Formats: sequence, C-alpha cells, structure tokens
Amino acid sequence: MLGAGAIGCLFASALRSTGPVTLLLREATAAAAEVVVERDGGASRVSLPISAAAQDGAISHLLVTTKAYDVRRAVSAVAHRLTPACQILLLGNGMGMADELRADFPHLALYCGTTTAGAYRIAPLHVRHAGRGATRIGQPGRRLAPPWFSRWSRTVADCTWDAQIEQALWLKLAINCAINPLTALHGCRNGELAARPELALQVARLCDEIAAIAGAAGYSGVARQVHGAVADVIAGTAHNRSSMLQDVAAGRRTEIDYISAYLLRVAARCNVPAPANAALLRRIRALTAPRIDPEG
Ligand code: PAF
Repeated sequence: MLGAGAIGCLFASALRSTGPVTLLLREATAAAAEVVVERDGGASRVSLPISAAAQDGAISHLLVTTKAYDVRRAVSAVAHRLTPACQILLLGNGMGMADELRADFPHLALYCGTTTAGAYRIAPLHVRHAGRGATRIGQPGRRLAPPWFSRWSRTVADCTWDAQIEQALWLKLAINCAINPLTALHGCRNGELAARPELALQVARLCDEIAAIAGAAGYSGVARQVHGAVADVIAGTAHNRSSMLQDVAAGRRTEIDYISAYLLRVAARCNVPAPANAALLRRIRALTAPRIDPEG
C-alpha cells in the first residue's frame, strides 16, 4: 500500500484482518510499524511490515491512497516491482491521476474508488475513524468485479463494486469542487457553507456551473444530483475541516490541480463557461503560491 494518511491507515487496518498488507514508504527505518485506528471509544492495533519503495519484492496488488499530486511519483518509485498483471487501485480525492498513470504505464490494470468513510490523523500511523461511509470501487467499462474484490467486500464495511464508477467519481469531484476551495479560502468548517448566506449563495453558483459541465461531459445523472449531494455532504460533515483547508493551514500543497483545475479543463473542452469555479481556482493558487523573499 502506498500512502499512509488517514484513509490509507483505515483501509490497511481493515484489510489486514483478511490477509497480508505491506506499507510501502520512501524510506524504511524499521521492519514493521503499528497502525492504530480509534473508533467508538476503543482502539485497534495492527502491525504491518514496511518496505522501502526502492527495495525489491514483486507487487501484484497495489492500493494507492496518496495525495492526488503524489500518485504518479509514488507509483513510479515502485514501478520496477510491479508484476505485468499488477492490479492497482487508486482511492483518494480528485480526478486525472488515472489518466496520468495510463499514459506512463499503459499495460497496467487500473481501478478507481471513492469513499465517504471519515477518518483523520492524530499522529503518524494513528487515526480516528470519524464516521462510517460507503466505498465504491470500479473500472470504467467493467461490469463484473475482479477476483481480488471479494477480499474488499468481506473486509470493508459498505463496499460495493460499481459498474458505473465514473458517475461516482464525478459526483465526488463535484462535492470536492464545491466544498474544498471555498472552505480553504474562508478558513471555515464545512457546515458554515450552509449557515452563512453569502457562502451558501457561492455554493449554489458553483453547483450550477458544475452541473452544467457534468451534463455537457455526458454525466446527466450526476448533473441532476449535484445540488442535493453537496447539500447532504455539507450537512453530514458540518463539523469537519475539509482536506484542502487542512492543507492550506499546514502550508502543504493542495489537490486543487486535480479538483477545480480538472473540472475547468473539462469545461473548456465542452465549451461551458465556469467563471465562479475559475475565480476560486485563481484565489486558491494565489493563496498557496510560494512567496518570494525580497531579501533572499
Ligand atoms: O476532502 C474532503 O475534505 C472530503 O472529501 C469532503 C467530502 C469534502 C469532506 O470534508
């Protein structure tokens, strides 16, 4: 598994109950690590072997839960270990990473997933499970699940094979486009997007544009659901700080290139104007642009 953030730890811990899971890290300073998942007042602890990316050892199944902008680099770092029939599952925010990987590794079997399971990191490899959610996994154009999926369906709560995974990915993209940049810009929790009328108005404008883009791109089902789905997630995660707000607050790179920028590339291709999303992208880029030190 590549990516030991909150979602990575949650799934690694669950999958460990039905078979081996190895943590792939840039550097391995120990042979194994303990992953702790707190939930319902208790904690589960599993020990997972660690392997440095540059080491040898064939990889036949790879789960990637890194930040979107790290997917390509992380998979390239283990490329020498991937078996010709390696099955790779990408699970995280954003879209466009699968296209990048397909360009680099056209022979590999790529699957995509999206989850609403909530988890946040308390310390390295120590996470709190904040809410049960649904996980959808699929491969564009593939109706039936591959054999490895039975382990996931046995292990991960509410995990289903989705023969139309693009719709689920697009709906999650829509949710991330409407919630993440706005919360990052205003430094607010998700719930404020509904509670503050001026922000609620902006969410509505963003959703109008996103629905038009989704419709023009051929996802009319998504277009119909955008407003309702975004409202549901804002209500259901009212107390959460979005991942982009957390990234901005910590001075980390954001996933905006794989969220709003991806959406705007599709909008340009389909000739759909999206001024509200474009303005937000510009403001997030300005907010996170590296500062030039006049003294340095
Ligand atoms: O990126 C996030 O924070 C989450 O995907 C979501 C659903 C917007 C909830 O905060």
